[in-house]
This record gives sequence, structure tokens and C-alpha cells, in this order.
Amino acid sequence: MRLDFSTLAPRDAYQWMISTILPRPIAWVSTIAPDGTTNLAPFSFFQGVCANPPTLMFVPVNNRQGLKKDTVRNIEAVPEFVVNLVPRRLADQMNSCAALLPYGESEFETFGIKPAPSDRVRPPRVADAPVAFECRLHQIVNIGEGPLAAHVIFGRILAAHVRDDVLGADGKPDVRKLDLIGRLGGEEYTTTRDIFTIERPD
Ligand SMILES: Cc1cc2nc3c(=O)[nH]c(=O)nc-3n(C[C@H](O)[C@H](O)[C@H](O)COP(=O)(O)O)c2cc1C
Repeated sequence: MRLDFSTLAPRDAYQWMISTILPRPIAWVSTIAPDGTTNLAPFSFFQGVCANPPTLMFVPVNNRQGLKKDTVRNIEAVPEFVVNLVPRRLADQMNSCAALLPYGESEFETFGIKPAPSDRVRPPRVADAPVAFECRLHQIVNIGEGPLAAHVIFGRILAAHVRDDVLGADGKPDVRKLDLIGRLGGEEYTTTRDIFTIERPD
């Protein structure tokens, strides 16, 4: 079959994209409002961008009413955030944070997720996350308008917290100990437990 994306409704384009561009890593992003209220939400349109300078990106899209998500509102007001990574054991807690809460109600408190203070930014990190990247906003690139339009958030990575128990004997992260999950289409997820090796050509 062929799909003409120039005539697809945004919601259909979204469905085709999330059920084909996969698996996607998950950024579990903590932010803070000017009054100190914290917010925590997952985003699977997420990637590393470059190491010079260390930069990552994730993409909150507008909701069905065309309104910005709380994460975007917070970053516009306090331009700092933490990207926490999600292992299998935290999948349910991560998923609960996709619930629609009124602005100002903290997912940390509502879902009993333990925060830990960050070193370089104001939003706390998820204490149990195996890896947490403290970021300062680099730039927001807006793409489109209305429902499902994007706010591409680029963040400069200032610091990372890596739990000692995910390190291998060589002192580097061990993918099996990290046990990170990826999002597939719909409500399906994958683990990183089936691993194979391919030698890179010279
Ligand atoms: C695994 C997962 C991945 C998600 N990825 C995205 C995404 O890339 N972009 C987006 O706008 N929403 C995504 N969502 C939905 C948001 O998490 C959800 O709209 C959330 O309520 C936003 O929270 P906020 O309003 O506190 O920022 C995802 C949800 C889940 C469970």
C-alpha cells in the first residue's frame, strides 16, 4: 500500500508514524513551574542529537484542543528539565504519568514517585531512574499549529546521574543492567533483552 501524507488527517498520520517508527526510547521529563510545583511526563519522540555540545531533544505535541502540554508551559517559564530514562521495573509508574492532571498537580506526589534533588537545575530527578540527564533549554522549535503540532525541545546536557548498579566491570553502562524499555505503536512496549552484535566494517 501507499500513503499520501499530504492528504492524511494529522491523527491518522500520527497513528502511522507511531506504529512504524519504532522502537522509540522514552524520555521521562521532570520540569518545574515558577511556584515550585513539579511535573513529570513521558515522551517517546526523543533522541540524542550531538555530543559537541552535548544535546538531546524530545517533542511534546499539542493536545486535541491545540493547547500546550504542562511540560512546555513549565520549560517556557523555567528553562530547565531532567530527562529520566525508564527501565522495565518503572514502566507502570512512567505510564501513570501520561494521565491528564490539572496544571499544577504534581505527578511525583499523585503517583508516589520519589524525587531526588538535581545538582545543576531546579526540577528534581526521579530517584529510582538508572540514568537522569540534567538539561538547560537550548531552543524550542515550533512546527505546525493547532492539535498535534510540535514544540521540539532541544536541551543542553549539563550533568548526568548514573546509578552504580547499572555499571559493568568496565565502569560503563551495561545494557542488560539498564534494562530500558522502548515504546512501540499503541500501548505496546519492548525491552532491550534480546541483543545481537554486528561488526562494523572498517
Ligand atoms: C510511553 C509514552 C510516550 C509518549 N510520548 C509522547 C510524545 O512523544 N509527545 C507527546 O506530546 N506526548 C507523548 N505522550 C503523552 C504524554 O505523556 C501525555 O500527554 C502527558 O499527559 C503530558 O504531560 P504534561 O501535560 O504534564 O506535559 C506519551 C505517553 C506515553 C505513555
